[in-house]
Amino acid sequence: MKRRAAITFTAALLGLGFWSLTALSADDDEKKAAQEAVLKLVEAMNKGGDVKGQIAAITQKFDELEPIMWVYKPKKKGGIGMGPNGVDDIELTIGKMGGPKYKMTPKKIADLKDDLIRAGELSKAIAAIAEQDKYAQNYAKKDLAKWKNYTKDMKKGADELIQAVKSENADKIKKAATNLSKSCTDCHSDFRE
Ligand code: HEC
Repeated sequence: MKRRAAITFTAALLGLGFWSLTALSADDDEKKAAQEAVLKLVEAMNKGGDVKGQIAAITQKFDELEPIMWVYKPKKKGGIGMGPNGVDDIELTIGKMGGPKYKMTPKKIADLKDDLIRAGELSKAIAAIAEQDKYAQNYAKKDLAKWKNYTKDMKKGADELIQAVKSENADKIKKAATNLSKSCTDCHSDFRE
């Protein structure tokens, strides 16, 4: 009996191992697919084309926002990230940038310009996805209006950031980074489990 119990136990462990392996790879595929879809949406938005169809397709394909929002993670974690080789986490970097200790020098502006514009563009695209009713219903049934407002704040902060970076104005960049980052943390603290 003892031996049999051990075999059952080992089999259960193996089963669990295989299960988590497949779960992991499905997850990664989903994140990859979401990242491709978000980048395509950014491209279409930049061209000023009609993006409704793309947003509808994304909303239909992804039941959760996690794989979509994953683009903010560093590249080595499967996101897009920012900085050299995407080593930095966009969410953390933008959060720090708005803080009182962060000095936004002309050199930093020059170094980060493209990355910050990209972060703004990604955020506009993700806000346009997150504002869809399906996600509001999934995550914010109790207060749909609040959810929608956070997606508006996110869009506005992203627009401000893009404009500020283009004007190379350090104070405006810090202010826009603060506003954009606030939209993330506000929504997360209310609606992310
Ligand atoms: C309107 C609400 C809302 C806004 C605004 C929002 N998020 Fe999220 N975010 C969520 C929710 C909800 C989840 C959890 C999704 C899940 O687990 O299914 C999430 C998940 C994430 C994740 C996935 C990993 C994790 O930590 O859970 C990252 C990264 C992320 N958000 C970054 C951001 C950043 C950066 C911004 C702002 C630029 C932002 N989000 C703005 C609602 C929001």
